Amino acid sequence: MTPEPTPTLQQLLAFYLEAGVDCALGDEPINRLEEPEPVPAPAAPRPAALNPLRPPPMPAVPRSEITIAPDAAIASAREAARTAPTLEALRTLMETFDGCALKHTATRLVFADGNPQARVMFVGEAPGRDEDIEGLPFVGRSGKLLDRMIAAIGLDRSKAYIANVIPWRPPGNRTPTPQETQVCLPFIQRHIELVNPDVLVTLGNPSTQALLGTREGIMRTRGKWIDYDTGARTIRAVATFHPAYLLRSPSYKRLSWQDLRAIAKVLAS
Ligand code: URA
Repeated sequence: MTPEPTPTLQQLLAFYLEAGVDCALGDEPINRLEEPEPVPAPAAPRPAALNPLRPPPMPAVPRSEITIAPDAAIASAREAARTAPTLEALRTLMETFDGCALKHTATRLVFADGNPQARVMFVGEAPGRDEDIEGLPFVGRSGKLLDRMIAAIGLDRSKAYIANVIPWRPPGNRTPTPQETQVCLPFIQRHIELVNPDVLVTLGNPSTQALLGTREGIMRTRGKWIDYDTGARTIRAVATFHPAYLLRSPSYKRLSWQDLRAIAKVLAS
């Protein structure tokens, strides 16, 4: 059997890119195949009687690894979000919030785009690479399609508001974990309450399930109007396909057009 040719650097990078590995998480490469250095035996503890009042020193933890325990992070996100009186305050709060590890691998917070006075708010799942670079939601390929979709019912970003459930890009665009979603949920819920739109549109399964509290798939939930309690009032909410899904399955654009027409009708009423 002839051995496989060694891939070129370009082929290797193309392979990584295909797999979603498109950014460096650290300044120095880590060889994870290297044998670990033998760990020196810990020094014998000093007899407690020598210094009974002083607690043992905490081991140094790199800042990027500081994360709060899941339940505490969810509780702290809830408390923080609840106290944000304005969108600016909410953004500042999220910029300083340390309870979600995604923040440490993302380049920046992707808060929102569009007009906060708009009557309609669209909510997607999480930023991708382009959004992470620009700091705005839906600016990549699926964002371009979203722009065309809303243009078809006479909207643009000056007449709509756009955000995501998760405001930090998951590394390599991986699916956010349920715990990451739970930690970020209070922020987007408060975000919706502060924007106070007449119509909320969830884009795709993850944002629909997180915000509309359903376990059903998008095929069943899309196009059905439900009441969403913002905390201050009840607004009309509807799910439709995520534009990234429509890019992969263009035959569903027909159903998405039905959803968009229904949204335009409610906005006109
Ligand atoms: N997909 C999303 O769900 N949100 C974005 O901002 C971009 C792509």
